[in-house]
Amino acid sequence: MSLLIRNGRVVTAVDDYHADIFVEDETVSLIGRDLDVEADRTIDAAGRLVIPGGVDPHTHMDMPFGGTTSADDFETGTRAAAFGGTTTIVDFAIQTKGHSTLEGLETWHEKAAGKAGIDYGFHMIVTDMEDDRLWEMRRLADEGVTSYKMFMAYPGVLYVDDGTLFRAMRKAGEDGTLVCMHAENGIVIDEIVKIALAEGKTAPKYHALTRPTRMEAEGVHRSIAIAEVAGVPVYIVHLSCADALEQVTLARDRGAQVFAETCPQYLFLDLSHYDHDDFEGAKYVMTPPLREKWNQEHLWRGLGFGDLQSISTDHCPFCFKDQKVLGIDDFSKIPNGGPGVENRMSLVYNGGVVGGRLSVNKFVELTSTAASKLFGLFPKKGTIAVGSDADIVVFNPDRRETISIDNPHTHHMRVDYNAYEGTEVQGVSEIVISRGRVVVEDNVWHGRAGGGNFLKRGLFGGPF
Ligand code: URP
Ligand code: ZN
Ligand code: ZN
Repeated sequence: MSLLIRNGRVVTAVDDYHADIFVEDETVSLIGRDLDVEADRTIDAAGRLVIPGGVDPHTHMDMPFGGTTSADDFETGTRAAAFGGTTTIVDFAIQTKGHSTLEGLETWHEKAAGKAGIDYGFHMIVTDMEDDRLWEMRRLADEGVTSYKMFMAYPGVLYVDDGTLFRAMRKAGEDGTLVCMHAENGIVIDEIVKIALAEGKTAPKYHALTRPTRMEAEGVHRSIAIAEVAGVPVYIVHLSCADALEQVTLARDRGAQVFAETCPQYLFLDLSHYDHDDFEGAKYVMTPPLREKWNQEHLWRGLGFGDLQSISTDHCPFCFKDQKVLGIDDFSKIPNGGPGVENRMSLVYNGGVVGGRLSVNKFVELTSTAASKLFGLFPKKGTIAVGSDADIVVFNPDRRETISIDNPHTHHMRVDYNAYEGTEVQGVSEIVISRGRVVVEDNVWHGRAGGGNFLKRGLFGGPF
């Protein structure tokens, strides 16, 4: 099967030129002007950007959490991702406390196999790591799971103490892998939560008011310090605020191997979304919470200056009616997380490129290339080059859509609300190609459950 994409404006993290792209089977085989080749199918991309498929390095499909399970599984979640122009996700497998991480990996393979419609990899969430289990980490790396996530938040659930953190970090550094950190002081936060509940403060907004930005900044500072001593590069996930960003910037300025992502929710939504008398604010109960709006300009600056490398979604949807309601009388019981995997590319293009904050190359870097480099997928993923996987998006930079659960062009996620309801965006993914196959065209799904492959990722290849 061959595919010719003609007349497009090819944009990668570094290039911007008009050319034709010839795809044979799953890979790009030729790029040039007015290519003289026969193809099984030709797509005219005149007036369109032709960009690498998005790489979202932070999703939670089919994740048991907060007494329920995230609403998108690998089939519905990856399909929605593809509609939005994302062709690779890196999801989080979980080690059950006291059990082998390899068992956890097996469970997540079972969840994804035969379901994922686009390619996917796994990080491993480590929930304990005694000395006699450390050998498993090298085995995970051999299996292509070359990054871990550990939590300073959620005591009693996913939280690990600093000793565990250090042990696992040291081994991860020896093995050439990367550690992702949920950096928030969960021990202190849980004390603040107890005080709030004792005072009868049970509404969703108290989720945000009990998680001060200083406690995120403290977690970022501490995890970086421990990682420096352990000798491992660290990637701060879902960084939400200026306070935390300052810690990343300071560490990078002194040469520490620190990387960080933020997410659309922290760039486009803010604390005011909790200002509802009813339970509506539960839609935005995620961790870290939405912050005061002024933080957003600091995050954009961090993205522009390179202190934040990537924009992921932390897609972890829970239905408002059936799942968020678990915390109707107590905000601490609201399942944490929100939807977004489908809307990331349009939101970032609109807020970044149309908004005059990012170049079009930076847009590609933040939504695709950087994550693929950090997580051992480059140059297979994250760029358009001869030999790369033909994960390509034909992106209309002029088309506008209003994001809404009622707009069939913007919502395919299996969740009963859209966090960006009513937001108008300019810039829409129109044709989405995954390893040479058109999986989305004219807002119709042409992919298949199981069409996505598990990606064995390489070791950490930095510094970048
Ligand atoms: O609220 C969130 N972020 N839920 C997903 C789990 C996590 O901490 O990333
Ligand atoms: Zn987290
Ligand atoms: Zn997450």
